[in-house]
Amino acid sequence: MKKILITGGAGFIGSAFVRQTLRKHPDYQVINLDALTYAGNLETLADVEKNPNYRFIKGDIGAKDLVEQLFAEGLDYVVNFAAESHVDRSIAGPEIFARTNILGTQNLLEAARRYWPVREPHRPADGAESPAPRYLQVSTDEVYGTLGQTGYFTEETPLQPNSPYSASKAGADLLVRAYFQTFGLPLLTTRCSNNYGPYQFPEKLIPLMISNALADRPLPVYGDGQNVRDWLHVSDHCEAIDIVLHQGVPGEVYNIGGHNEKENIYIVKLILSELKKPEALIKYVKDRPGHDRRYAIDAGKMAKCFGWRPRYTFEQGIKETLQWYLENQEWVNSVKSGDYQKYYEKQYAGR
Ligand code: NAD
Ligand code: TYD
Repeated sequence: MKKILITGGAGFIGSAFVRQTLRKHPDYQVINLDALTYAGNLETLADVEKNPNYRFIKGDIGAKDLVEQLFAEGLDYVVNFAAESHVDRSIAGPEIFARTNILGTQNLLEAARRYWPVREPHRPADGAESPAPRYLQVSTDEVYGTLGQTGYFTEETPLQPNSPYSASKAGADLLVRAYFQTFGLPLLTTRCSNNYGPYQFPEKLIPLMISNALADRPLPVYGDGQNVRDWLHVSDHCEAIDIVLHQGVPGEVYNIGGHNEKENIYIVKLILSELKKPEALIKYVKDRPGHDRRYAIDAGKMAKCFGWRPRYTFEQGIKETLQWYLENQEWVNSVKSGDYQKYYEKQYAGR
């Protein structure tokens, strides 16, 4: 049996990846290491809790002894989702972003250096699959900074992060690069555009707007609402990560995106119209400082190397997502009331 460590597996994307891995690789043992910050929610994984191939460990990726213990068990794969992930929180308090996203990543890399066979820096031929162990750093297109009206982020675009969040993710990416170049570790990086789908914490644009619209509360649109994000369904992101983890070339970066560039205001109006709520609920508010104007990913390398393409169109994905939020208002209410934070105690106390 192969062993895979998924960090941040109680979050939005990590939990989808945990579920996908258990389904797609029934011969893998999945270890989910998550600190259960405000963004970690084990209720999201209630359906896999009893799967004998699944194990949850509450802990910090920055904890040296714990991470070393896990590597000492013999890990074939590590996928690092664990992070502080919300730009607005990084503006309010950058420190935890540097600690978790940069130092936490470095702690994982250091354990890999200690426990995984270190080779001379090498680059296998294109397309040649390297055997395990392998580590994948889940990064973001936000490390590239902002685009003007035209153009796309490619893997060669210089890193020019503008928020403490994206700067901390860029810092982690650079450490991954350095640990590959210097120590020859089998490390891969993916940089994805904005995700949407079920179980996203209602502080991010789409779930926040859905939740406010359902409650007839104002929908706060930053600035002029014309900032552009490139949206990808979370399951398409998870598919792409699985492919890169198994087939990517160590040392390489892979951009993941769906060519679904939409202005924020378009999305907000679409949500209101689908939920049959009035546009009068829209409230333009003061802009986010350092607000990136436009993100758009060139995912040509993913298509060329692996034939990967998103399965979801935005229209289909957003309809399904709206439906999911309508049918799962209890999940949203539990998050908003903070009740989800009691789940771990209830479920794991005394285990
Ligand atoms: P999220 O905030 O929903 O989840 C983050 C998870 O990490 C939570 O479960 C949290 O408890 C856990 N965590 C935080 N600090 C930790 C620590 N020190 N040790 C262990 N666990 C810790 O985030 P998400 O939206 O699922 O994003 C996951 C990853 O994907 C992040 O690295 C993010 O930068 C990246 N990413 C996100 C998007 C997006 O649109 N959401 C797009 C591209 C890349
Ligand atoms: P967000 O979901 O925070 O993702 P990111 O900033 O990482 O791209 O925001 C997506 C876009 O929506 C971004 O341009 C900021 C904007 N936004 C609002 O206009 N109002 C809001 O309340 C939020 C949370 C975001």
